[in-house]
Amino acid sequence: MTAPVYMTNTWYAAALSDELTATPILRTLLGEPIALYRGASGNVIALHDRCPHRFAPLHKGQVFGDDLRCPYHGLRFNALGACVDNPIGEGKIPKAACAKSYTLAERDGIVWMWWGDQPADESQLRRWPEFADPERYTSVEGYIRVKGEYQLIADNLLDLSHAEFLHPYLATEGFNRRTQYSMEQQGELVVARNWRPNEPISGLFAFAYGDDAPSHVDHLSIVKWQAPSTLRLEIGVTRPGQAPEEGPRSYQAHLVTPETAHTCHYFWKWGRDFKLDDHDFSKKLQASLQLAFENEDGPMIEAQSEHMQGQRQEALNPVLLPTDSASLRARRVLQQLIDKQVAS
Ligand code: FES
Ligand SMILES: [Fe+2]
Repeated sequence: MTAPVYMTNTWYAAALSDELTATPILRTLLGEPIALYRGASGNVIALHDRCPHRFAPLHKGQVFGDDLRCPYHGLRFNALGACVDNPIGEGKIPKAACAKSYTLAERDGIVWMWWGDQPADESQLRRWPEFADPERYTSVEGYIRVKGEYQLIADNLLDLSHAEFLHPYLATEGFNRRTQYSMEQQGELVVARNWRPNEPISGLFAFAYGDDAPSHVDHLSIVKWQAPSTLRLEIGVTRPGQAPEEGPRSYQAHLVTPETAHTCHYFWKWGRDFKLDDHDFSKKLQASLQLAFENEDGPMIEAQSEHMQGQRQEALNPVLLPTDSASLRARRVLQQLIDKQVAS
């Protein structure tokens, strides 16, 4: 089997901000084991997890200021991976004593890692202003590791028809028959739109309206995919015939980063513009979404992956339904971008 080719000179999600403290964590990203931590300056730092001396795992070391001290013989590395202290003998620092460091950027509660040899381009960072505006929005978040190829998660999110069968408690029964599905490509962005006018209201949105909930609503969900695997979802309802901004909405980030060729990291954040101060609801919402990903989407993607036995989707010639058009287009756009990079 050939090694996977990933898109380069782009940002991949490395962690959620809340995961990183002065105790380093180990996370393998695109095949590289990386120690991630937050230094005393407040900055997030990423160093290759293998000490250049005798290859000890750096994430098991201790953080001093922004530096990380190797747990084996105590070489200390700064945020750029340069060795700044050698506690052995006279303390001379060998020239080769440096750990690879990675460029990170932290925005909207998400820690992104630049992957590529060109200078990091912060203008390419995908933003979620909703996650940084607690006056108007509140959000919950979660993470799972999935033993499946990362593009299968984008396929899952670009085709929400699965919710009727895989998440019956989150969906209204029979909604696929009532959905007007469409897909369009806007430059390198792929957009899937699911429109259901005059739909029975779901439990979640009935709760958002409270005592005054209508029995039926216009339901619109929009999924926007951007290479390599960054998805923005917006789901909103309104009383039939109203403009979309007149009803409760959720604004979501679904970020997928390859761990290896056959496993990936899935980070999610789910913002809402209703019941902002209801912490009890936030807790329940976080738990039910995390459980849906952990117990329903995750296992399904792992089972799919096992049955695919390492073969690419195209090689297996899948049967296609109309709701596959967005995921197929996203795969095509990503492949074109990768091919262009390989050729240049
Ligand atoms: S292995 Fe890190 S200092 Fe020796
Ligand atoms: Fe799902």
